Amino acid sequence: MKTPSPVASAKFVLQLPKAELHLHIEGSLEPELMLSLASKHGIDLPYRTLEDIRAAYQFDDLQSFLDLYYLGAGVLMDEQDFYDLMWCYLCRCREENILHTEMMFDPQTHTDRGIALETVINGFTRAMDDAKTGWQQSSALIMCFLRHLPEEEALRTLEQAMPYKDRILAVGLDSSEAGNPPGKFQRVFKRAAEAGFFRVAHAGEEGPAQYIRDALILLDVQRIDHGVRCVDDPTLVDELASTKVPLTICPLSNVRLCVYDHMKQHPVLDLLDRGLRVTVNSDDPSYFGGYLCDNFNALGTSLGMTEQQAVQLARNSFEASFLAQETKQKFLSLL
Ligand code: HPA
Ligand code: ZN
Repeated sequence: MKTPSPVASAKFVLQLPKAELHLHIEGSLEPELMLSLASKHGIDLPYRTLEDIRAAYQFDDLQSFLDLYYLGAGVLMDEQDFYDLMWCYLCRCREENILHTEMMFDPQTHTDRGIALETVINGFTRAMDDAKTGWQQSSALIMCFLRHLPEEEALRTLEQAMPYKDRILAVGLDSSEAGNPPGKFQRVFKRAAEAGFFRVAHAGEEGPAQYIRDALILLDVQRIDHGVRCVDDPTLVDELASTKVPLTICPLSNVRLCVYDHMKQHPVLDLLDRGLRVTVNSDDPSYFGGYLCDNFNALGTSLGMTEQQAVQLARNSFEASFLAQETKQKFLSLL
């Protein structure tokens, strides 16, 4: 008889080569950097100490988080700030054996405060280039449109980004989901596809399963961010299993934003075992209490994730990436 695969230990998770595909770089802003940038720029935050900040990170839902996330992002002013933010996360990738990362950023959060897109992109890409030179860190950017704003503003953002097209891999859709369906952004996603960008969208985090279908059909996305509400639509689950459209699932985020009361209720391993191409990600690690390994380890502790399941999740993370086939194979061969 075959011995069952053991529960994956923290050591096992750490040494596993992984890709992270759902990480908002602004959501990796640690309280220490937030306070030091606020002081550097003379910005008045409603927090005085690290403890004040950490105490504020209690969320009831997505919107209660977004309010603090946009407030925190307000300390990012000059190119060096964007560099430092990116550098800290890429160093974390090195520590956690995250060999490739596709990171989201929200240009409108910065341009609406009068920061030039050039400042944002130059800071980010300089850090990405240094990490590539330093330890061959593989990384790419996904430019997200804020769905609570009108499509016209997303269209303008896409136009502004065209000079940096070769530094942006994909476009995405984030921010307040309820009441902002994918169909609102059909034109901008069509234009992005014509310009050669890959496409992803947050769907089925707080919004209904129908938003997942809409994102696939109306926005022609190649990946769904979150997507956990697919469980409400068994036909959709079967379709996701057969088409292998990836879901970038963020377990700690879902618990912290009260999508689930407890990690024990999370469907990620059920979906994995049903053959969906699910991946594990950290979303906004500084706000949700953990980076990528913490997310894997929470599945070990609460759901008994086995080594075999952890390896499959790591395999999925490379398969679901937008890397060229040859590069994917190179990473997959390490597993
Ligand atoms: N959902 C939607 N928008 C976001 C998130 C999220 O989890 N994180 C940052 N922007
Ligand atoms: Zn997200």
